[in-house]
Amino acid sequence: MLKPSYKEAKKRTKDKINVLRDEYVIPSSVKNLGMGKKYYIKTYGCQMNEHDSEVIAAILEDMKYTKADDYEDANLIILNTCAIRENAHNKTFGMLGRIKHLKQTKRNLLVGLAGCMSQEESVVDEILSKYKWMDFVFGTHNIHKLPEILEAHENSKKLEVNVWSNEGNVIEGLPAKRDSNYKAWVNIMYGCDKFCTYCIVPYTRGKQRSRRPDDIISEVRELINKGYKEVTLLGQNVNAYGKDFDDLDYKMENLLEDVAKTGIERVRFVTSHPWDFTDKMIDVIAKYDNICNYIHLPVQSGSSRILKLMGRRYTKESYLELYNKIRNKVKNCSITTDIIVGFPGETKEDFEETLDLVKICKFDSAFTFIYSPRVGTPAAMMKDDVTKEEKEKRLYELNDVINKYALKHNEKYVGKTVLVLAEKVSEKDDSMLAGYTDTMKLVNVKADEKYLGQIIKVKITDAKTWSLDGEIDE
Ligand code: SAH
Ligand code: SF4
Ligand code: F3S
Repeated sequence: MLKPSYKEAKKRTKDKINVLRDEYVIPSSVKNLGMGKKYYIKTYGCQMNEHDSEVIAAILEDMKYTKADDYEDANLIILNTCAIRENAHNKTFGMLGRIKHLKQTKRNLLVGLAGCMSQEESVVDEILSKYKWMDFVFGTHNIHKLPEILEAHENSKKLEVNVWSNEGNVIEGLPAKRDSNYKAWVNIMYGCDKFCTYCIVPYTRGKQRSRRPDDIISEVRELINKGYKEVTLLGQNVNAYGKDFDDLDYKMENLLEDVAKTGIERVRFVTSHPWDFTDKMIDVIAKYDNICNYIHLPVQSGSSRILKLMGRRYTKESYLELYNKIRNKVKNCSITTDIIVGFPGETKEDFEETLDLVKICKFDSAFTFIYSPRVGTPAAMMKDDVTKEEKEKRLYELNDVINKYALKHNEKYVGKTVLVLAEKVSEKDDSMLAGYTDTMKLVNVKADEKYLGQIIKVKITDAKTWSLDGEIDE
């Protein structure tokens, strides 16, 4: 058994980061483990986790499992979890409750926990004491070891816990079964060293490790050959890409430029921490048409006092300076953000500062959250005297302003013709296709399925807060 430890996860060593290319092997005893069996993966959390699930799916398919449409039809269920807020936890434990019932009637069902919650010491302790009926737990650092963990479980028939507290390496050569044939997630880095005081990610994802540029570019070229139109470069703090190379002076602006030069039709990247956003990056984004005019720039708070307590390393003023620079240099750029309300000690005045910043920036849209204490983080030890009701009131008020601007931005599109990557049949109406503009506006368009996977011209006919409607403009 290998349990995670908060103390170990917090450590940042100067050890060299190795790129390991031969770590993924399927032991012969489990090569056909999934023959005639089905798997179901439930994914929570961010794009990073979505992509990890694509890797887990491919590993299971390498072991001959096939995909089940519903968890009730599966022989193996994996919950790929998120630890960012309390409600992510609750959802997972709720799902585990339902699965427990299923397991009582389906003796051979295997159930595993993966993702960021697996990296939490307190979660693993809870699994070991109250969820002994589960079969395996693995973490974010050893996804490639899944076949060996399943082999160990085959031999022991007991709960196998195998979670590494930290990983200093980059694993290459992993397969991925991508959810889309048109747009793809591409990891450019793992981990995060920012340690914002409220955030669990540096503990669950380990130290920052950038993938080598050649490996990223080859992956993008391979995707182009397969017909992909769009890549999203993924990392918790992509602007810090390359800062951990000790033998190479190659940063995010270099990578963005080289990815743009592959000729892929659309390049996106998430997430950008304002601290590492350089002028050179802005210039590259402005220069290449295939780098989308869309930047997600989490601000978290408009109060410099709270930003300091959060450990964000910028002030309201320096954020605004960066924001205006981007708006001025990247024409028609859409900018979205993340905001936390009710951070420990946030006063009415602090919250007013946030509202003020939102009114100045007029974001295209925003993800807003009530602060949720995470065990093991510094903010969880801070005195939090704002009531739940007050926090909810602030969130409500903030969302009201955010939504007003979101609608205003969308209304500007009405009557215009935009390019949309038609990526799926609309969930609400199967005569409609859904896709995004390069500015990341969701568009529903009346169009035949033959347009799927194409970048089509769409005339916008109507604007809502969260989406646009349109018709094909031929
Ligand atoms: N790496 C990204 C953020 C990833 S987490 C960045 O630095 O911008 C996504 C968002 O979740 C964060 O931007 C933050 O707004 C929110 N978040 C993170 N920890 C949180 C917590 N403890 N409580 C509430 N929201 C949180
Ligand atoms: Fe969390 Fe901050 Fe790292 Fe983002 S930059 S993942 S908020 S610690
Ligand atoms: Fe959640 Fe882990 Fe992503 S905590 S937001 S799944 S990095």
